[in-house]
Amino acid sequence: MAADEKSDDTADSSGSARAFRPIHRSGYDRQTHDFYPTPDWVTEVLLKNVKLRGPIWEPCCGDGAMARVLERGGHKVVATDLVDRGFGQGGTDFFDRIAFPPGCRAMVTNPPYGDGGELVRPTNASLGMQKFIRHALDLTVRENGQLALLVRFQWIAGKKAAALISSGPLSRVVVLTKRIQWFDMGERTTTGQHHHAWLFWDCSYGNLLPPSLIFAQ
Ligand SMILES: C[S@@+](CC[C@H](N)C(=O)[O-])C[C@H]1O[C@@H](n2cnc3c(N)ncnc32)[C@H](O)[C@@H]1O
Repeated sequence: MAADEKSDDTADSSGSARAFRPIHRSGYDRQTHDFYPTPDWVTEVLLKNVKLRGPIWEPCCGDGAMARVLERGGHKVVATDLVDRGFGQGGTDFFDRIAFPPGCRAMVTNPPYGDGGELVRPTNASLGMQKFIRHALDLTVRENGQLALLVRFQWIAGKKAAALISSGPLSRVVVLTKRIQWFDMGERTTTGQHHHAWLFWDCSYGNLLPPSLIFAQ
């Protein structure tokens, strides 16, 4: 996920094995399949700043951190994940899905964009993210629905990312002015290095209208 250890798509893209570089040493091990639960306030900001049409699909639900906040906000949530983490339906690969679960009108998640493991090839992180967003946008447009994705703010400005983001009905960008702290390590906890934003696409939003930009925390 959009954890602070991840690489930017502006990073060195040499394909050789030597180009693999350690992710930033922050003292935390990278989690399997990019499992980083999202702090509640981040999803609460989304709920305050966009109007979601439910039910909502959370396709990378992890242990339900984001899904629970959406439910508290009054939404019915269908939660799935590649891995069974004791919440929702495990064993569901997002890339195998060809449609929203029946009845769902919106998708909300924070896409995993690393490839796991301790060494990460910078281009893979970006390509994985693009692949995820392309598929998410395809499914959303097919459903005439809505899509909210939490991404690293810096990532938005990459040339390929910008083209991809603009290819869908982007209606709002909610920039988080407070940095996300992904781990709680007690006294050793540090503030995250990066800012994040919610990207929100809505198929009922006019294609010719520019997206609005909101700063929130
Ligand atoms: C950063 S966690 C986010 C969990 C949750 N969305 C949250 O905000 O707390 C990313 C999750 O994506 C899941 N994941 C990774 N690749 C996936 C895939 N191809 N299909 C479905 N889930 C996947 C991981 O198992 C992990 O639980």
